[in-house]
Amino acid sequence: MPTYPDLHGKVALITGAGRAKGLGEAMARRLAAEGCRVVITDIGRSRGPEMPVTAVGTDEEMSKVAGSIRADGGECSAMALDVLEEDQVRAVVAATVERYGSLDILVNNAGIGYLMKPILEMTLAEWDAVLGVNLRGAFIATKYAAEQMVRQGRGGRIVNIASQAAKSGFPFASAYCSSKHGLVGLTRVTAIELGRHGITCNAICPNHVTTGLGAWQNEYFSKALGMTMEQYLAAMKGRIPLGRAGLPEDTASACAWLCSAQAQYVTGESMNVSGGEEYH
Ligand SMILES: NC(=O)c1ccc[n+]([C@@H]2O[C@H](COP(=O)([O-])OP(=O)(O)OC[C@H]3O[C@@H](n4cnc5c(N)ncnc54)[C@H](O)[C@@H]3O)[C@@H](O)[C@H]2O)c1
Repeated sequence: MPTYPDLHGKVALITGAGRAKGLGEAMARRLAAEGCRVVITDIGRSRGPEMPVTAVGTDEEMSKVAGSIRADGGECSAMALDVLEEDQVRAVVAATVERYGSLDILVNNAGIGYLMKPILEMTLAEWDAVLGVNLRGAFIATKYAAEQMVRQGRGGRIVNIASQAAKSGFPFASAYCSSKHGLVGLTRVTAIELGRHGITCNAICPNHVTTGLGAWQNEYFSKALGMTMEQYLAAMKGRIPLGRAGLPEDTASACAWLCSAQAQYVTGESMNVSGGEEYH
């Protein structure tokens, strides 16, 4: 039973959504359950040494995700998209409109969160890889999706998946935190510039979620902080007023609400979805 009937028939494009159990999959599943026609996209292959193949949503994994959403009764297509390639972004926006007739929702979800190192060890190539996908990629997708929404003349929704790391600093995460703080800035400017077209732009700032990326972060941070995994996870839980780490569905709920008419007067926000762990 859909929660937001106004979402029925809306066309949503989500970046970086090809990895099973990721936030992108959860948002795609939820928007499809609300009646949206959803295009999930992902890079499909490694771009180079900064991107281990284990951290990438492959074409095969993405078609399984799309197939499983269709099996649950949702409308979902999969398209390859590297958010750093302007031509690909333009082509995927055009292909979405060709297939479904419009583009109403963009979710900038693609992200690199596994290049964590102390500043003294971080290379420029690693810094550029993180800033590239997390910030430049979101800018490119915003530009071409917004161009289409403005042309349609009936508003739209842009949701940027930022992070708790958009509000607070974390050790070994100079590039990640900088990119996510930057995404909050992009969110505010997009909201200001596109408001007159009825397009809202908001960011969601989840705390830790054990996705494929989140599992890598648990391993990395527990080792870096000299803790066992059990100690690390218990300490994390202890910091969260609601007593548990985030789930992909928590972000998906926030995303569906922001895309719905219920959130029509909300724009430029960076909304914590963190069980109370992050509160500014
Ligand atoms: N998991 C968490 O704890 C957490 C918390 C806060 C924010 N986030 C953010 O949520 C988003 C999704 O993360 P996730 O945890 O679901 O991990 P994930 O690894 O499942 O998703 C990230 C996706 O981005 C894709 N990607 C990387 N480079 C790309 C490129 N150039 N073009 C297109 N796609 C590309 C990857 O292939 C992958 O599928 C990320 O932006 C992440 O920073 C995650």
